[in-house]
Amino acid sequence: MMLDRYAVIGNPIAHSQSPRIHALFAAQSGQAMTYERILAPLDGFREAVLRFRAEGGRGMNVTVPFKLQAAELCDTLSERAARAGAVNTLIFHPDGTIEGDNTDGAGLVRDLLGHGVRIEDQRVLILGAGGAVRGVLAPLLAERPRELVIANRTADKARQLAADFADLGPVRGCGLEALMGSFDLIINGTSASLSGERPPLADDLLAKGAVAYDMAYGQEPTPFQCWAQAHGARLALDGLGMLVEQAAESFYRWRGVRPDTVPVRQTLNASHAT
Ligand code: ATR
Repeated sequence: MMLDRYAVIGNPIAHSQSPRIHALFAAQSGQAMTYERILAPLDGFREAVLRFRAEGGRGMNVTVPFKLQAAELCDTLSERAARAGAVNTLIFHPDGTIEGDNTDGAGLVRDLLGHGVRIEDQRVLILGAGGAVRGVLAPLLAERPRELVIANRTADKARQLAADFADLGPVRGCGLEALMGSFDLIINGTSASLSGERPPLADDLLAKGAVAYDMAYGQEPTPFQCWAQAHGARLALDGLGMLVEQAAESFYRWRGVRPDTVPVRQTLNASHAT
């Protein structure tokens, strides 16, 4: 029997946890499928996708730096992918069309709610105004926060992004230095963690009982998590849970089965700690 084939495509890709996560989902739900890693040359994304499909692929996850190119390649986009302007999930339909979806924002929201973190009616701050932040704004606003402030090193990018999503809820943008007040939930969507840095933040930005969430993750707590712990956060989470939840959402789009993410997260956390 031919197994259905899936893959994650990116550059670099060697470090991707997605094959491991999807293998755990497949085993748990009895789905007959394989999931591999594909390294695409920086100028060869489209060719690599079409080749994988021609070889019988059923769908792909897309990661850095190809999420915008993936959106351009698709015949149709889900509403959330169109809003994000980026695609992390490709679905190869039997009629030959390629649908693009974006499960990143749903993954973030699910991970937050799964940790008992409230978004509705809360004051939420998101740091950064790049592609990662754009990808999660619509699902966050759908949870009806009291306000959503986007703060970025380059203030104009934050203001522009807020304007693009203003029809979905109470969102505004500003520069990091103009940040005032305190927040119940602070999400770091900058790429600073990747270089061992964090945005400069005022000491009193976290409200009492506030939660901090870094969309990045690593072997150690990120500089942003450390800052949050030192400044009274009730909870300082990294983005590993978001990774697992976005994978589950992609798996659901492909297979029509929703995996149980709890045991998968425990498995990853166990190997994370060693
Ligand atoms: P991604 O796809 O990860 O979102 P991106 O589109 O390049 O990557 O965006 C990176 C984001 O991280 C930007 O908001 C960037 O701020 P600028 O718009 O001012 O460049 C932010 N960022 C990166 N390094 C940072 C740092 N050391 N401090 C603060 N913000 C940083």
